Amino acid sequence: MTSSHSDALVFFGATGDLAYKKIFPSLQAMVKRGHLNVPVVGVAKAGWNLDQLRARAKDSLEKHGGLDPTAFEKLIGLLRYVDGDYQDPATFTALRQELKVAQRPAHYLAIPPVLFETVVQHLAESNCGRGARVIVEKPFGHDLRSAQGLNRVLLSVFDEDDIFRIDHYLGKRAVNNVLAFRFANTFVEAFWNRHYIESVEITMAEDFGVQGRGGFYDQTGTIRDVVQNHLFQVLSNLVMEPPVRSDSESLRDEKAKVLRAIPPIEEKSLVRGQFRGYCDENGVAKDSQTETFAAIKLEVNSWRWKGVPFYIRAGKCLPTTCTEIVGKFRKPPTLIPDSQLVEYHLRLRLSPEITIAMGMMNLAPNAEGLALQTAEMMATHSPRADEMDAYERVLGAAIVGDSTLFAREDYVEEAWRIVEPVLKKNTPIYQYTPNTWGPQEVERVTPAGGWSNPGERKAFAVASEAA
Ligand code: BG6
Repeated sequence: MTSSHSDALVFFGATGDLAYKKIFPSLQAMVKRGHLNVPVVGVAKAGWNLDQLRARAKDSLEKHGGLDPTAFEKLIGLLRYVDGDYQDPATFTALRQELKVAQRPAHYLAIPPVLFETVVQHLAESNCGRGARVIVEKPFGHDLRSAQGLNRVLLSVFDEDDIFRIDHYLGKRAVNNVLAFRFANTFVEAFWNRHYIESVEITMAEDFGVQGRGGFYDQTGTIRDVVQNHLFQVLSNLVMEPPVRSDSESLRDEKAKVLRAIPPIEEKSLVRGQFRGYCDENGVAKDSQTETFAAIKLEVNSWRWKGVPFYIRAGKCLPTTCTEIVGKFRKPPTLIPDSQLVEYHLRLRLSPEITIAMGMMNLAPNAEGLALQTAEMMATHSPRADEMDAYERVLGAAIVGDSTLFAREDYVEEAWRIVEPVLKKNTPIYQYTPNTWGPQEVERVTPAGGWSNPGERKAFAVASEAA
């Protein structure tokens, strides 16, 4: 693997939504931290000039995260702009000229996947692709076949080491902290396996709808939007074996092994839901069968996890916005009646704050006999304003050539293998009322003892809290 620093960053889709909401704020943050000091070339077909792109960058920063005058001035100094059609070779000739002497540009394709092939071919023909890296946005394909097709296109011009498939969850500190928690604390290894854990739940709840992205969302749905990528990455971190070395490939080998151990999802292990009112959203078909909620039960047939059900639930218009993992422990063989053993768990909250909590049984205050309660011992941390955002982290990693935070080809294809058969079956879609935890039918895919709903643990005593 070549890990030299890219000497230019090109981003296609410079006038688009992603650039506006995520890329400009990340670029400014990188400049501020001294992590970006190379020309940044925006490419789009908008009929704009550089001043208009600069104005867009300013507006983006004012709305998303705040403008830092010193860093912004530096960013504006690095910014270049090429306007043109992606079908037109002249756009790429102009890009090559704008890149000047750059030998190792990183091309970030923040554009719809249907345009990847055209752009990649023009990059190769115009000599912009030589020595270059390519960064691609999710969704990576629509199914296994299209993902393989995209991989073929990218690999026809770039080496796998130079392809960076973004899943911004990999840039989240909380997601990486799952690995730190597991592998930097010896005691975790003692219980994090089938002998002690009865079931594991991952919930990604969002209390908002499709936020004007109806057209995109209706072609995508919850499983393709967040389960096949973001939540499988979370699952991999929870389930994988410790890598044997600390390089990116050893880590990515272990993640790919996790997915290889998961059989395709069966129809009976999936419940799809759609919030009432979804079909009235702009860009959504009136008779849409796209899910805005999914609950899935998975098996991981590895030595560590065989027989432990993993439940994944994600949805829009749920009662709260929170991503959380709950591992429930098996009950101990005590003389205490089962009914008294309420809950006994490990809870890892990934957002909005990072929390590690152990729910433990203990004697209730003023208890007579063996009246038990669950108390949580909890450490929690709310992200500070100056912490690296996920996009900043992944872009920074791509331009120095560190693949650790990116999805590898085999991993992406395994992820499609797991979800694709059930996606193609048109399973029923059940309506749910916004601000509830999905359709009633979710009972069919529910852990023993019920789902642990974030924010509904008020009955627990908090044993201690650390910052
Ligand atoms: C995106 C999805 O990839 O992730 C969105 O397209 C989702 O639908 C978003 O809301 C969630 O990301 P985050 O970082 O806000 O948890």
